[in-house]
Amino acid sequence: MLRGPRRPRGLCLVLLLLLLLLPLPAAPGHRDAARPWEGTDEPGSAWAWPGFQRLRERLRAAGALSKRYWALFSCQVWPDRCEEDEEAAAGPLGWSLPLLGQQYLDVLTTWYCSFQDCCSSGDCRISNNFTGLESDLNVRLHGQHLVQELVLRTVRDYLEMPQPDKALALSFHGWSGTGKNFVARMLAENLYRDGLRSDCVKMFIATFHFPHPKYVDLYKERLMGQIQETQQLCPQTLFIFDEAEKLHPGLLEFLGPYLVRWAPEGHRAKSPRAIFLFLSNLRGNIINEVVLNFLKAGGSREEIRMEHLEPHLHTEIVESTDSGFGHSCLVKENLIDYFVPFLPLEYRHVRLCVRDAFLSQELQYTEEALDEIAKMMVYVPKEEQLFSSQGCKSISQRINYFLP
Ligand SMILES: *[C@@H]1O[C@H](CO)[C@@H](O)[C@H](O)[C@H]1NC(C)=O
Repeated sequence: MLRGPRRPRGLCLVLLLLLLLLPLPAAPGHRDAARPWEGTDEPGSAWAWPGFQRLRERLRAAGALSKRYWALFSCQVWPDRCEEDEEAAAGPLGWSLPLLGQQYLDVLTTWYCSFQDCCSSGDCRISNNFTGLESDLNVRLHGQHLVQELVLRTVRDYLEMPQPDKALALSFHGWSGTGKNFVARMLAENLYRDGLRSDCVKMFIATFHFPHPKYVDLYKERLMGQIQETQQLCPQTLFIFDEAEKLHPGLLEFLGPYLVRWAPEGHRAKSPRAIFLFLSNLRGNIINEVVLNFLKAGGSREEIRMEHLEPHLHTEIVESTDSGFGHSCLVKENLIDYFVPFLPLEYRHVRLCVRDAFLSQELQYTEEALDEIAKMMVYVPKEEQLFSSQGCKSISQRINYFLP
């Protein structure tokens, strides 16, 4: 949720780029330094080297959108720093980012990764730390007793299966800010030494990676390439699809074959394992309704069982008309193993998120500050004011207002 302690890497990147953009001593070109994106070519300098030339062309093209690009680029290289940019990425700019932009971004990322250990140079290490996962789910996630139980059990059972014959597919549902991304990240962090940075983990955000319906064929091709490459590299892979409700129906159909039972392939020493997570707010309202009715009837939140929720959730998803997800082969052909409901968060949960945010930034807090920040969220429905409409989203930004 918060920035990881990876600044030195960022610095490294900046230095690398400066090295690349500043003229070499042999090639005097002060003008370039002032406007690195628009430098001219000095014959005989390193710039004449075609590889550099091409790269610089790309950088120059990217320069037009440079500020935004750096945000996106660093998102791609350090996905766990992205959270604060997520909204921007999904906003109007994210939608209009030209297709070519994504290609430049990929080029840059690949190029950067050729120097750094974010790619194939050995960060495929699989850690499968179930103790850590259990502890994270119990300690860092608030108000989600069903998720805690279901995610730990299904993932552990799947990964401990001697010969799995299919991928595990989980669909996370719930309002924004209830912890879907957070749990996906916990899985990445506890199953892989390098978490979301691992070569074995791929995260796709529908409106960012696949924004334009007209390019769906290109996206399919790319997605296939990425899935296959990842699976060749790693015996255990994790694919996360955020904003799954916005995935193009064509892409959803395309994913079907990756989730069906694998044909037995002789005596493979080790079966590959793949986990697919689909994150969406699809039918979050139904979950909230069930919880609200349960509470109104005098029940306690912790008494809510999967039986209360899953049948509703499943039917509602199948019948949904506002998104292709419910009609996709993933749902129709029962390729999703579990629909995981994230419950709406109450005041006391938000308060815990605020406390965590203070602690993770190593800041002092008072009980009053926790209350004050938790009260800044909007609670719904209007009458009951029970659930935070934004869950625990952007809490860490909010606490900045309280800093001296
Ligand atoms: C698993 O995670 C726990 C809690 O984060 C940590 O204390 C422990 O060292 C980890 N174990 C391994 C083998 O990495």
